[in-house]
Amino acid sequence: MKILSCNSNLPLADSISKELNLKLVDAEVKRFSDMEVFVEVKENVRGEDMFVIQSTSYPANDNLMELLVTLDALRRASAKRITAVIPYFGYARQDRKSGPRTPISAKLVANLITSAGADRVLTMDLHAGQIQGFFDIPTDNLFTAPVFAKDIKDRYSDVPTIVVSPDVGGVLRARAIARRINAGLAIIDKRREKPGASEVMNIIGDVSKHHCILVDDIVDSGGTLCNAAQALVSAGAISVDAYVTHGVLSGSAVSRVLNSPLQNLVTTDSIQATEPIKLASNIRQISIATILGEAIRRVHTESSVSSLFD
Ligand code: R5P
Repeated sequence: MKILSCNSNLPLADSISKELNLKLVDAEVKRFSDMEVFVEVKENVRGEDMFVIQSTSYPANDNLMELLVTLDALRRASAKRITAVIPYFGYARQDRKSGPRTPISAKLVANLITSAGADRVLTMDLHAGQIQGFFDIPTDNLFTAPVFAKDIKDRYSDVPTIVVSPDVGGVLRARAIARRINAGLAIIDKRREKPGASEVMNIIGDVSKHHCILVDDIVDSGGTLCNAAQALVSAGAISVDAYVTHGVLSGSAVSRVLNSPLQNLVTTDSIQATEPIKLASNIRQISIATILGEAIRRVHTESSVSSLFD
């Protein structure tokens, strides 16, 4: 087996390489002067079980193209099997027709990845589990729940804690954490009139005198989380922390989080942290390298991946 990384998240790829005790394949993933992507794999990969690590995070289109061109290079180099390891699968939120004459971009991206040469996909906390069905190749969707639950337990034991889903769509995800830390569950009724702007309508459940743990898959503009945190404090919460797998944190999201009632926002390194994120006093990253490394090992040895989460 061999692992190769494109450019979106080299620190995570290095950590996975250490976990597996396996050097990254020598490859050049670079640009022509007109910004076309060019890839050259500099060692033999014929007959290898290949894993390509690339999050399709900002700049999403460039990073997606790097992944596609790399998959094509490996297929033409006669790799035996190619797994696209996509810690953050961009375009996932466009998973249905949100209105007349709109695309289902998540399906289009799944088709592109498959056509480019991927035999399997390994990803993390997909925005919606059913996106697995957009791929006609095996797709393993890993969960951050065990990693997050351990961190929460280390910080909050023997105090009244409640897990909060910031919208109805995230209830399953939040419930999985609540079950692991043996806490109750509250749900926020969120309304989104247009992308990037959300409003809290109601809180379902009693959060007063509790430490609230918001759980979500993506923090992008930060609007969902910061509005939810404000509403929870107004409803009598003692404190509000948030655990969110993918820290997209675009635009002015970091300053929004800094100026919000959020005590801590914990994300993972599925997306590489920018300097402002690293400097933000209430944002922290937990690494998913161990879980990804172990899942890669299990895919290679054809052993159970789901039992990682028992
Ligand atoms: C929505 O369904 C997602 O789970 C997130 O809640 C959403 O993408 C967060 O976006 P923002 O940070 O821009 O409110």
